[in-house]
Amino acid sequence: MSKNKKKISSIVIASHNPGKIREMLPFIKKLNTKIYLAKDFKLKEPKEDGSNFIENALKKSRYVNNKTKKISIADDSGLVIPSLQGKPGIFSSRWAGKEKNFDRAMKKVNNLLYKKKTNAYYISVLAISWNKKKEKIFIGKIFGNLIWPPRGNLGFGYDSIFIPKGYNKTFGELSNKIKNNISHRVMAFKKLLNFLN
Ligand code: IMP
Repeated sequence: MSKNKKKISSIVIASHNPGKIREMLPFIKKLNTKIYLAKDFKLKEPKEDGSNFIENALKKSRYVNNKTKKISIADDSGLVIPSLQGKPGIFSSRWAGKEKNFDRAMKKVNNLLYKKKTNAYYISVLAISWNKKKEKIFIGKIFGNLIWPPRGNLGFGYDSIFIPKGYNKTFGELSNKIKNNISHRVMAFKKLLNFLN
Protein backbone atom coordinates (compact mmCIF):
# COMPACT_ATOMS: atom_id res chain seq x y z
CA MET A 1 0.00 0.00 0.00
CA SER A 2 2.71 2.49 0.95
CA LYS A 3 4.53 2.12 -2.37
CA ASN A 4 1.46 3.07 -4.43
CA LYS A 5 0.34 5.65 -1.90
CA LYS A 6 -3.33 5.62 -2.85
CA LYS A 7 -5.63 7.95 -0.97
CA ILE A 8 -7.29 5.94 1.77
CA SER A 9 -11.03 6.48 1.50
CA SER A 10 -12.03 4.81 4.76
CA ILE A 11 -10.75 2.74 7.66
CA VAL A 12 -12.54 0.45 10.08
CA ILE A 13 -11.28 0.18 13.65
CA ALA A 14 -11.59 -3.53 14.39
CA SER A 15 -12.06 -3.20 18.14
CA HIS A 16 -14.89 -3.15 20.66
CA ASN A 17 -12.74 -1.90 23.53
CA PRO A 18 -13.71 1.74 24.31
CA GLY A 19 -10.35 2.46 26.00
CA LYS A 20 -8.42 1.31 22.94
CA ILE A 21 -10.74 3.09 20.51
CA ARG A 22 -10.34 6.33 22.47
CA GLU A 23 -6.56 6.03 22.22
CA MET A 24 -6.55 5.00 18.55
CA LEU A 25 -8.86 7.73 17.23
CA PRO A 26 -6.49 10.74 17.42
CA PHE A 27 -3.94 8.84 15.32
CA ILE A 28 -6.37 7.55 12.73
CA LYS A 29 -7.89 11.04 12.42
CA LYS A 30 -4.50 12.21 11.15
CA LEU A 31 -5.16 10.18 7.99
CA ASN A 32 -8.08 12.47 7.06
CA THR A 33 -10.24 9.55 6.10
CA LYS A 34 -13.71 8.30 6.97
CA ILE A 35 -13.51 6.27 10.17
CA TYR A 36 -15.85 3.40 11.00
CA LEU A 37 -16.03 1.15 14.03
CA ALA A 38 -16.63 -2.61 13.81
CA LYS A 39 -19.89 -2.08 15.63
CA ASP A 40 -21.14 0.20 12.79
CA PHE A 41 -21.30 -3.01 10.74
CA LYS A 42 -22.77 -4.98 13.64
CA LEU A 43 -19.68 -7.19 13.67
CA LYS A 44 -18.80 -9.21 16.74
CA GLU A 45 -15.23 -9.74 17.88
CA PRO A 46 -13.79 -12.98 16.45
CA LYS A 47 -12.62 -15.54 18.97
CA GLU A 48 -9.09 -14.74 20.15
CA ASP A 49 -7.68 -18.23 19.95
CA GLY A 50 -4.24 -17.37 18.57
CA SER A 51 -1.19 -18.38 20.57
CA ASN A 52 0.40 -14.93 20.51
CA PHE A 53 -0.39 -11.22 20.08
CA ILE A 54 0.45 -11.21 16.36
CA GLU A 55 -1.93 -14.06 15.51
CA ASN A 56 -4.74 -12.46 17.49
CA ALA A 57 -4.25 -8.99 15.98
CA LEU A 58 -4.25 -10.42 12.45
CA LYS A 59 -7.29 -12.51 13.19
CA LYS A 60 -9.24 -9.37 14.18
CA SER A 61 -8.08 -7.18 11.27
CA ARG A 62 -8.59 -9.96 8.66
CA TYR A 63 -12.07 -10.70 9.90
CA VAL A 64 -13.21 -7.08 9.62
CA ASN A 65 -11.49 -6.58 6.24
CA ASN A 66 -13.19 -9.70 4.87
CA LYS A 67 -16.60 -8.65 6.13
CA THR A 68 -16.46 -4.95 5.18
CA LYS A 69 -14.01 -4.96 2.21
CA LYS A 70 -12.52 -1.87 3.83
CA ILE A 71 -9.04 -1.34 5.22
CA SER A 72 -9.13 -2.43 8.83
CA ILE A 73 -6.88 -1.83 11.81
CA ALA A 74 -6.84 -4.00 14.92
CA ASP A 75 -4.84 -3.92 18.12
CA ASP A 76 -4.00 -6.92 20.23
CA SER A 77 -2.28 -5.85 23.37
CA GLY A 78 -1.64 -6.79 26.94
CA LEU A 79 0.44 -6.62 30.06
CA VAL A 80 3.44 -8.94 30.22
CA ILE A 81 5.06 -9.75 33.58
CA PRO A 82 8.35 -11.57 33.02
CA SER A 83 8.54 -12.77 36.65
CA LEU A 84 5.16 -14.49 36.14
CA GLN A 85 6.34 -16.25 32.98
CA GLY A 86 4.77 -13.54 30.81
CA LYS A 87 1.30 -13.62 32.40
CA PRO A 88 -1.32 -12.29 31.87
CA GLY A 89 -0.03 -11.65 28.30
CA ILE A 90 -2.59 -12.59 25.65
CA PHE A 91 -5.00 -13.37 28.49
CA SER A 92 -4.94 -9.78 29.87
CA SER A 93 -8.52 -9.12 28.89
CA ARG A 94 -9.75 -12.60 29.83
CA TRP A 95 -8.41 -12.23 33.41
CA ALA A 96 -11.09 -9.58 33.90
CA GLY A 97 -13.84 -12.08 33.07
CA LYS A 98 -16.97 -11.52 31.02
CA GLU A 99 -17.88 -8.50 33.16
CA LYS A 100 -14.50 -6.89 32.31
CA ASN A 101 -13.78 -6.43 35.99
CA PHE A 102 -10.23 -5.12 36.05
CA ASP A 103 -10.21 -4.64 39.83
CA ARG A 104 -10.40 -8.41 39.99
CA ALA A 105 -7.74 -8.85 37.29
CA MET A 106 -5.35 -6.48 39.11
CA LYS A 107 -5.96 -8.31 42.40
CA LYS A 108 -5.09 -11.56 40.67
CA VAL A 109 -1.78 -10.05 39.55
CA ASN A 110 -1.08 -8.80 43.06
CA ASN A 111 -1.91 -12.16 44.66
CA LEU A 112 0.41 -13.99 42.29
CA LEU A 113 3.22 -11.54 43.02
CA TYR A 114 2.97 -11.98 46.85
CA LYS A 115 3.95 -8.32 47.38
CA LYS A 116 7.14 -8.85 45.39
CA LYS A 117 8.20 -5.74 43.45
CA THR A 118 8.49 -6.46 39.77
CA ASN A 119 8.84 -4.92 36.37
CA ALA A 120 6.46 -5.44 33.48
CA TYR A 121 5.74 -4.15 30.03
CA TYR A 122 2.77 -3.42 27.86
CA ILE A 123 2.86 -4.55 24.27
CA SER A 124 0.64 -3.47 21.40
CA VAL A 125 0.56 -5.29 18.09
CA LEU A 126 -1.29 -3.33 15.44
CA ALA A 127 -2.42 -5.21 12.37
CA ILE A 128 -3.68 -3.63 9.18
CA SER A 129 -5.46 -5.70 6.53
CA TRP A 130 -6.57 -4.64 3.07
CA ASN A 131 -7.62 -6.24 -0.22
CA LYS A 132 -8.38 -9.45 1.66
CA LYS A 133 -4.93 -11.03 1.65
CA LYS A 134 -2.66 -8.03 2.22
CA GLU A 135 -1.56 -7.29 5.74
CA LYS A 136 1.19 -5.83 7.90
CA ILE A 137 1.93 -5.60 11.60
CA PHE A 138 3.59 -2.96 13.80
CA ILE A 139 4.76 -3.51 17.39
CA GLY A 140 5.21 -1.07 20.28
CA LYS A 141 6.25 -1.69 23.88
CA ILE A 142 6.56 0.34 27.06
CA PHE A 143 8.47 -0.85 30.10
CA GLY A 144 7.71 0.00 33.71
CA ASN A 145 7.05 -1.29 37.23
CA LEU A 146 3.97 -2.61 38.99
CA ILE A 147 2.73 -1.15 42.29
CA TRP A 148 0.05 -2.00 44.82
CA PRO A 149 -2.50 -0.62 45.74
CA PRO A 150 -3.84 0.73 42.43
CA ARG A 151 -3.69 4.51 41.89
CA GLY A 152 -5.74 6.75 39.58
CA ASN A 153 -8.63 6.04 37.27
CA LEU A 154 -7.79 7.95 34.11
CA GLY A 155 -6.80 4.91 32.06
CA PHE A 156 -8.28 1.46 31.58
CA GLY A 157 -7.32 -2.17 32.12
CA TYR A 158 -4.23 -2.52 34.31
CA ASP A 159 -3.24 1.18 34.09
CA SER A 160 -3.71 1.91 37.81
CA ILE A 161 -0.91 -0.49 38.80
CA PHE A 162 1.55 0.32 36.00
CA ILE A 163 4.19 3.04 36.42
CA PRO A 164 6.05 3.70 33.17
CA LYS A 165 9.83 3.91 33.44
CA GLY A 166 11.03 7.47 34.16
CA TYR A 167 7.74 8.54 35.82
CA ASN A 168 6.44 8.33 39.38
CA LYS A 169 2.75 8.18 38.53
CA THR A 170 0.71 5.28 37.19
CA PHE A 171 -0.93 5.31 33.76
CA GLY A 172 -4.15 5.73 35.74
CA GLU A 173 -2.83 9.02 37.17
CA LEU A 174 -1.05 10.40 34.10
CA SER A 175 -3.12 12.49 31.69
CA ASN A 176 -4.23 11.09 28.33
CA LYS A 177 -1.92 13.62 26.76
CA ILE A 178 1.13 12.07 28.44
CA LYS A 179 0.00 8.48 27.89
CA ASN A 180 -0.67 9.29 24.24
CA ASN A 181 2.92 10.40 23.87
CA ILE A 182 4.67 7.38 25.31
CA SER A 183 2.42 4.33 25.31
CA HIS A 184 2.99 1.00 23.58
CA ARG A 185 0.00 1.70 21.31
CA VAL A 186 1.42 5.07 20.30
CA MET A 187 4.79 3.53 19.46
CA ALA A 188 3.05 1.02 17.21
CA PHE A 189 0.85 3.73 15.68
CA LYS A 190 3.83 5.92 14.81
CA LYS A 191 5.24 3.01 12.80
CA LEU A 192 1.88 2.40 11.13
CA LEU A 193 1.44 6.08 10.17
CA ASN A 194 4.96 6.14 8.82
CA PHE A 195 4.07 3.17 6.61
CA LEU A 196 0.84 4.75 5.38
CA ASN A 197 2.27 8.21 4.69
P1 IMP B 1 -7.27 -7.54 23.76
O1 IMP B 1 -6.16 -6.95 22.91
O2 IMP B 1 -8.60 -7.15 23.29
O3 IMP B 1 -7.08 -8.98 23.99
O4 IMP B 1 -7.18 -6.86 25.18
C1 IMP B 1 -6.01 -6.32 25.66
C2 IMP B 1 -6.11 -6.15 27.14
O5 IMP B 1 -4.80 -5.77 27.60
C3 IMP B 1 -7.00 -5.01 27.58
O6 IMP B 1 -8.31 -5.42 27.83
C4 IMP B 1 -6.31 -4.58 28.87
O7 IMP B 1 -6.61 -5.48 29.87
C5 IMP B 1 -4.85 -4.79 28.56
N1 IMP B 1 -4.28 -3.57 27.99
C6 IMP B 1 -3.82 -3.38 26.74
N2 IMP B 1 -3.40 -2.13 26.56
C7 IMP B 1 -3.63 -1.50 27.72
C8 IMP B 1 -3.43 -0.17 28.15
O8 IMP B 1 -2.97 0.73 27.43
N3 IMP B 1 -3.79 0.08 29.41
C9 IMP B 1 -4.29 -0.86 30.23
N4 IMP B 1 -4.52 -2.09 29.90
C10 IMP B 1 -4.18 -2.42 28.63
